[in-house]
Formats: sequence, C-alpha cells, structure tokens
Amino acid sequence: MKQRSRKIIVVADAEELAQKAAARLIERIWQGSDPVRICLTGGSSPQRLYRLLAGEPHRAALPWARVHWFMGDDRFVPESDPLSNMGAARRAFLDSAPVPRQNIHPIPTTANNPEVAADRYEAELKQFYGADRLDPGRPLFDLVLMGLGPDGHTASLFPHAPALEETQRWVVGVAKAGMQPFVPRVTLTFPPLASASEMLFLVDSADKRPILGRVLGGEDLPAHRAYAQGDLIWLMIRAAVPGAIK
Ligand code: 6PG
Repeated sequence: MKQRSRKIIVVADAEELAQKAAARLIERIWQGSDPVRICLTGGSSPQRLYRLLAGEPHRAALPWARVHWFMGDDRFVPESDPLSNMGAARRAFLDSAPVPRQNIHPIPTTANNPEVAADRYEAELKQFYGADRLDPGRPLFDLVLMGLGPDGHTASLFPHAPALEETQRWVVGVAKAGMQPFVPRVTLTFPPLASASEMLFLVDSADKRPILGRVLGGEDLPAHRAYAQGDLIWLMIRAAVPGAIK
C-alpha cells in the first residue's frame, strides 16, 4: 500500500481549525493549477470552514472564477435533501459566494441509480483532467478535503468495502452505507482522491479521539489507507488528539 508520511497539525479548537484550513485552502488556490480544482467533503467537520469562505475577507479576495469545486462523496439524494453533501456546501458557501455555476461539479445524484451517477461523475472528472489515466506527476486536484467517520471510514469508503481495493474505477456506487445515514452513496476511490497536491483531513470533535488513535496507530481502516501524492495533512483539535501522539 502506498503511504506517504503524514504531517499532524494540532489546533486549539474548531474555530482555529476552520481558520487554519481556510489558510491552507487559500494558499493552494493561489499556488494551484489554472483552473484550480478543490475536492470538498461532506459531514459536519468542514461546515465552519465553508461558512468562513463565504464571509469577508475571503469572499472579496478569492479568485472565484478560476476555482472549480468537486465533491469526494455524496449521499444518493437530491441536493434539496438536508443529507446532501453538495446541498450543504451550496448552502454554506457556494451559493452565496460569487462562484460561476459551471465551476460547481456535483455528483449527479438524480441519476437512475448510484452506479450510473458514479459512471457519469467519473466521465466528468476524466474530461476535466483531460486523460483517462492518472499521471502521478500531474495531480487531478490541488486540494482534497477529507473527514473521519467514527468507524474509520473516509469519503464513503467504509471498512471492509470492496471499493477500498478499487484501482481502476475513479468513482463507484455504494449500495449500502456502512453507517448512518443509511442511504446509498457515490464515492471517489483512493486513486483519484490521492491524486492531489494536498490531502487535508479535518478532525474537529473530541468524539473522534478513539478512532483517531486507531487510525494514526496504524490499524487497517479506510482513513489509514488514504494517501496522497502530495502532502498528507491531518488537522485536528487538541481534544481529539490520542494519548499516544500527545
Ligand atoms: C459523508 C462523508 C463522510 C464524513 C465523515 C465525517 O458523506 O458522510 O463525506 O466521510 O466526512 O463521516 O463526518 P462528520 O464531519 O460529520 O463527523
């Protein structure tokens, strides 16, 4: 398994975590490819960061027209559903910031089924990338945000799922989620997620301390398997830091 060494950054609280994540994201935007490609994540952990981006000074300062926004996984529900990851990102910042419509790339969760949605999103990613194969020297994304589930999942890559072993397909349908909400999912697989200048995990709650200890301790859980061609950063609040790395 490929595993780049990771960097751990500990911050005081969720507010500082959002500030630090925003600073990293902004740096990636200014240093990034043209256009810049950011892969967002769902769940509650990135929401404070998203809201920050929609407020000043970022709203006025960011080069919104040259940033494209993707989603690493989504629940197979329409965007109007409160469970939708892209719906939540839109409500938190994409709809209120000056983002050109064509710069938002949702997983098409109104397709007939998650497999069809996965195939379509894979085609969209490949078209945007300009190739069918990932070139290690040319990352698909400038930044990939990731969350950590209480069972060690990340994106919608759940423990023991066949999707963990996928090396060919970039996006797959997940008929059964490994934990709530128990709706089908669509998720990027590890190779496209890893095709990033930076992968940034956000851990903003003390509840994650036990699972974080297992992941950082090397247990074979999805979040431990996640790797990046560029920097692999784990940004966490102090209350989530497992004893072993304090
Ligand atoms: C999803 C996710 C998922 C999430 C983690 C952490 O759609 O559920 O993308 O991988 O990031 O479960 O979720 P929280 O941030 O809510 O703890």
